[in-house]
Amino acid sequence: MVKVRIPATSANIGSGFDSMGIALGLYNYVAAEENDSGRLEIDILDDSREFLPQNEENLIYRSMKRVFDVTGYKCPGLKLTLENNIMITRGLGSSSAGIVGGVVAANKLCGDKLSLNEALKLAADIEGHPDNVTPAMVGGFTVNVMTKHMIRYVKTELDPDELSFAALVPDFYLQTKKSREVLPKSVPHNDAVYNTGHSALLAASLITGKYENIRTAVGDKLHQNYRKRLIPNMDSLFRLCYDNGALGVYLSGAGPTIIAITETKNKSFGCDISRILINKMKGWKLHMLKPDNIGACILENN
Ligand code: HSE
Repeated sequence: MVKVRIPATSANIGSGFDSMGIALGLYNYVAAEENDSGRLEIDILDDSREFLPQNEENLIYRSMKRVFDVTGYKCPGLKLTLENNIMITRGLGSSSAGIVGGVVAANKLCGDKLSLNEALKLAADIEGHPDNVTPAMVGGFTVNVMTKHMIRYVKTELDPDELSFAALVPDFYLQTKKSREVLPKSVPHNDAVYNTGHSALLAASLITGKYENIRTAVGDKLHQNYRKRLIPNMDSLFRLCYDNGALGVYLSGAGPTIIAITETKNKSFGCDISRILINKMKGWKLHMLKPDNIGACILENN
C-alpha cells in the first residue's frame, strides 16, 4: 500500500499567469492498494464523494492509468482510498492535487520508473499547465515553464514564520474552463509588457525576501480584470485585505478564492477579516494557511 499526502496550491499569484505557484499547508491524501481482484474500487472518505466519480472516470485513477500505460506496468486490481480536504473548484489546486497524488502513487507502485521531472511533465500534460502541479509535487514557491520535453522550474522555500496566506473562499464554484473562457485571445502589447515586468519583480522579491514589493508585483493585466465579473465583490474584498495590512492580494488560480499574502507577525489579520466576513460578506470564509515547502510526500509504502 502506498499513501501520499499532497498540498493545496495557489497559482498565478497575480502577475505570474500560468507560470507561478505556491504550495500551501492544506492536504489531500491518496492511499493506493494493489490486489488481484481484477477490479477498481474507490472509497472517498469525505463529502466530495457526492460530486466525484468513483469509477474509471476518477481523475486520480486516470492519472495513475497514464503512469501505468507509459511505464508498461500491469496493475491487476486496485483499491483507492481518498481523503479530500482541499475545497473543490475554488482555485486551490484540487485537481492538480488529484493528478499529482495519482502520478506519485502509481510511480511508487511501479517501482519509481519515472524520474521526478518525467512524473512532473506527465502531471503537467494532464493538467495542461504547470503552475499548480509543480508546487504540488515539490512544494515551495515555484516559477515554471513547460517545454516540449520537460518542466523547467526554480523552487524557493518560503518561511512560514515570515509569510502567511489568507485564503478567502466563497461558497460558490467556478470551473477553470469557464474562468478561462472570459479571457481574450490576444492582449495589447502594453499589457504583456506590464505583466513581464511585474512577474519578474514578484519572483525576484519572493526569492530575496523583499516583501515590500509584493503589492506592486502582484499587479496584473492578463486575467484578473477579465475574471472580476465572475466573482461578486472581488474589488471590495481586495480593498478590505489591503486596509487590514495585506502585503499583496490576488485571485488564486482561476478563482473564485482570493488570497491575501500577510506577514505572519500580523496576528490580528485573520481574526479581523473573519469577523468582517461573518458580518458583511456571508458565504465567504477565511482559511489561514502556511506555505508548504515539502510538496507531495509518501507517508506509507509497504
Ligand atoms: N493558471 C491557471 C488559470 C490556473 O489561471 O487559469 C487554474 O488552473
